[in-house]
Amino acid sequence: MNDIKMLFRSSDRDSLAELAVAKKYFDVVETRMFIPKDSLVVGRYSVLPYYRELERDLAFNNSRLINSAIEHKYIANFDWYHDIADITPRTWFDATAASFAFDDLPHGMVLKGRTNSAKSWYWMYAKTKADFRRIDTFLHQNEMLAHQGIVYREYIPLDIIEKSCIPNSFDFVNEWRCFFYKTKMLAMGYYWTMAEESSIEKANNQDLFGAINIATQAAHKLAKRTNFFVVDVAKTAEGNWIVIEVNDGQMSGLSCCNEELLYSNLKTELIAERRKSYSNLASGLTPQAIEAYELAKKQQKEQAKVD
Ligand SMILES: Nc1ncnc2c1ncn2[C@@H]1O[C@H](COP(=O)(O)OP(=O)(O)O)[C@@H](O)[C@H]1O
Ligand SMILES: [Mg+2]
Repeated sequence: MNDIKMLFRSSDRDSLAELAVAKKYFDVVETRMFIPKDSLVVGRYSVLPYYRELERDLAFNNSRLINSAIEHKYIANFDWYHDIADITPRTWFDATAASFAFDDLPHGMVLKGRTNSAKSWYWMYAKTKADFRRIDTFLHQNEMLAHQGIVYREYIPLDIIEKSCIPNSFDFVNEWRCFFYKTKMLAMGYYWTMAEESSIEKANNQDLFGAINIATQAAHKLAKRTNFFVVDVAKTAEGNWIVIEVNDGQMSGLSCCNEELLYSNLKTELIAERRKSYSNLASGLTPQAIEAYELAKKQQKEQAKVD
């Protein structure tokens, strides 16, 4: 792999501001047609809905995404759950089993698709069995969520930083988004950007050792199966830190993460890894072979420019 490219799809004002920072650290292209041969591609906001198609297109030029389709699916399909089940809310994958389990849960359940929720607390949080049935029916009528498969998760009361003034809406809880490249944390920020400034400040002023610890613990397991991801962690009302969910880093919004840190750290990690793979390769070679290898790479790059 020679080039590291970022394929960035900008859609709104926030992502345009982010794009400007991405350009400081990465060679950014806005269409896959401009990706040269042998590239490693970070598909920022640009990999869905046709992940496999993009992977195939890039493979024609011997290029690849930072997460392969299999590595992406590990996250999108909720498979990560099985690797960190001890530090995230208990989850059921079948409506009947979940309905039985519901009766023994003290605070109810959260229902959602394997990748996405209905983005509404009213269509997500079941306090009673009647809520459970109402939400389950609704989610099964939503083509996208039903296709993903519904997951049923124990609801764990979280530490609230700012109570929402809108009924049936999300409270701004003590929740943090942590970006990782493998086991290296790249950036961490308060999850709820819509919270009052004073709430975000209050959140930032606490000791975050527990949050970092649980996120890193998760990353050590997840990094065996995928590369670039976010781990969202939250403090429970009882004071323990848990993982809320895992998402592909390519498609995850910044929340309050510092974009300069995110992009500069990601670039550092990718370059360090590329160097390492070169030196691993070179360690078994004679100086003449290394020279020939470097020459071949250079010619390949020139050829790519001509092509
Ligand atoms: N099991 C749970 N217990 C308590 N709160 C939860 C639970 N699952 C989700 N939440 C809250 O709901 C929010 C949205 O849920 P999430 O699973 O992250 O859905 P989405 O896919 O829309 O991001 C979370 O950020 C968290 O604050
Ligand atoms: Mg989420």
